[in-house]
Amino acid sequence: MNLIVLKIGGSAISNKNIPFSFRKDVVEHIAKELTEIHKEYNIILVHGGGSYGHPIAKAYDLSKGLYAPKKQLLGFSRTRYYMSKLNLLIIEEFIKYNLPVITIQTSSVITAKQGKIYNFYIEPIIKLLSLRMIPVMYGDVVIDEKKGITIISGDDISTYLAIKLKADKLLFGLDVDGIYSKDPSLEDSELIEILDISSFTIKGTMTKYDVTGGIFHKIEKAIEATKHGINVYFFNITKQGRLLDVINEKGTFTKLITG
Ligand code: ADP
Ligand code: IPE
Repeated sequence: MNLIVLKIGGSAISNKNIPFSFRKDVVEHIAKELTEIHKEYNIILVHGGGSYGHPIAKAYDLSKGLYAPKKQLLGFSRTRYYMSKLNLLIIEEFIKYNLPVITIQTSSVITAKQGKIYNFYIEPIIKLLSLRMIPVMYGDVVIDEKKGITIISGDDISTYLAIKLKADKLLFGLDVDGIYSKDPSLEDSELIEILDISSFTIKGTMTKYDVTGGIFHKIEKAIEATKHGINVYFFNITKQGRLLDVINEKGTFTKLITG
């Protein structure tokens, strides 16, 4: 059975400007659409941190590594705590829709080196997929062999898994319609429907609190997956029906191509 890896952006499931704001309505329609998709595909879900993860990770400067343990280790605990809370809220909705989801806690299966995934124990994920379960992971703080600790984003995790497990599709669900020529809040920005990874220029901005590189890091990861032959899409997961549409290559999205 073909595999779909879906990264659910933190900006889509929380309000970036309000700490700890959960967009239940968005997660609910994602759950509804996943029940259809799961009939035909194996699915891995990875969610971001949004306003549950980034503000705390930023306050404790966790992506810089461990240089002030007394303070930062508490930041490690706090970030982990709030990411677990967000994960539980999401899982609760999925279970309501009878999706066989199971969370794999990030820092217990991933270690990093210089901010990049170094060890990733993926065997449980493979086994769960063979049982037709839906593994769920999320961006989080992990141990780093060089820096002490670091943040691994959901974009890193989803790309890693999509490549390793030879996914058919890697989907990045955002709070905007796809990749734009420049920041989508600017009036003259245009949606790029087909993004040729051999030649493109994109401008953009990041929110003040983003600790994982925002849209630029996401595009970098998407290019890496495309080079491995995976079909990569960016789409607006806050809009009902778009997830089902993108699976069938219908509607509005950005698709990456190799030129
Ligand atoms: P998420 O938290 O959902 O993983 P990010 O917040 O890191 O995603 O990135 C998505 C955000 O990037 C969008 O909300 C959008 O406002 C912003 N952005 C800035 N520049 C661009 C661009 N050129 N194309 C698409 N989005 C962009
Ligand atoms: C970040 O994960 C996790 C933390 C800040 C702890 P992501 O980088 O995947 O989160 P979003 O999707 O941008 O919110």
